[in-house]
Amino acid sequence: MSDLPFTFVVPLPGALPSRVDNHIQRRLSAMQGQFLDQVTYGKMLAEDDRLVYEVYEIHRPEIAGELLMGISIVHPGKVGREFYMTKGHFHTVIDTAEVYYCLEGEGFMVMETPEGETSVEPLSPGKVLYVPPRWAHRSVCSSRQQDLITFFIYPGNAGHDYGTIEQLGFRKLVVDGEHGIEMIDNPRYQGR
Ligand SMILES: [Fe+2]
Repeated sequence: MSDLPFTFVVPLPGALPSRVDNHIQRRLSAMQGQFLDQVTYGKMLAEDDRLVYEVYEIHRPEIAGELLMGISIVHPGKVGREFYMTKGHFHTVIDTAEVYYCLEGEGFMVMETPEGETSVEPLSPGKVLYVPPRWAHRSVCSSRQQDLITFFIYPGNAGHDYGTIEQLGFRKLVVDGEHGIEMIDNPRYQGR
C-alpha cells in the first residue's frame, strides 16, 4: 500500500501548522546544565519553569527515504546574558543533513562538527539554511519580543543525539553583550 500525497498549511503570522501530529514543549527544567550562568538558571527555575521552545512535528516513518518535517518556535528570553535556545543535537546517523527555512523572528543557528569546526549563521525571515552532514545544530532566538520560527526538514533515519551536546556543550555561545549581540567561546566547553 502506498501513501497518498498530502499538503498542510503554515499560515503567517504565527506559523501554527494546519497539521500537527506531535507537539513538544521544552521548559527551563529540560535545559539542565546547558546555560552558561548556572546560578541565574537555578534562580529562574525556582521561580517558574518557563517555556523555552516548542516543536510541532508531522509524523512519518523514521526510515531512510522518508523526510521528517515540522516547525520550531524558540521564544524570546535570556538566562543571564545568554539567549533562549534549543537543546541542540547531532544526528544519530551523523552523515545526514537538514534544511531550515526561517519564517519569523531573528536569531542564529549555532553549529559545530565533532572535529571542532564551528559556524554561527544569522537567521531572519526568508533565509534558508543548509546544515550539512556531521554538523550539530542549535537555534537561538535573539529578538527581545518575537519568537524565532523555522520550518525544518531532514532525513527520516537521522535520529537525534542530544547526549553529546548535553555532556560537552557547544563551543560557541550567543550572548547579549555590552556592545550588542556577541558570539563568544564557551568557557564551560568540556572538550573531547
Ligand atoms: Fe536536526
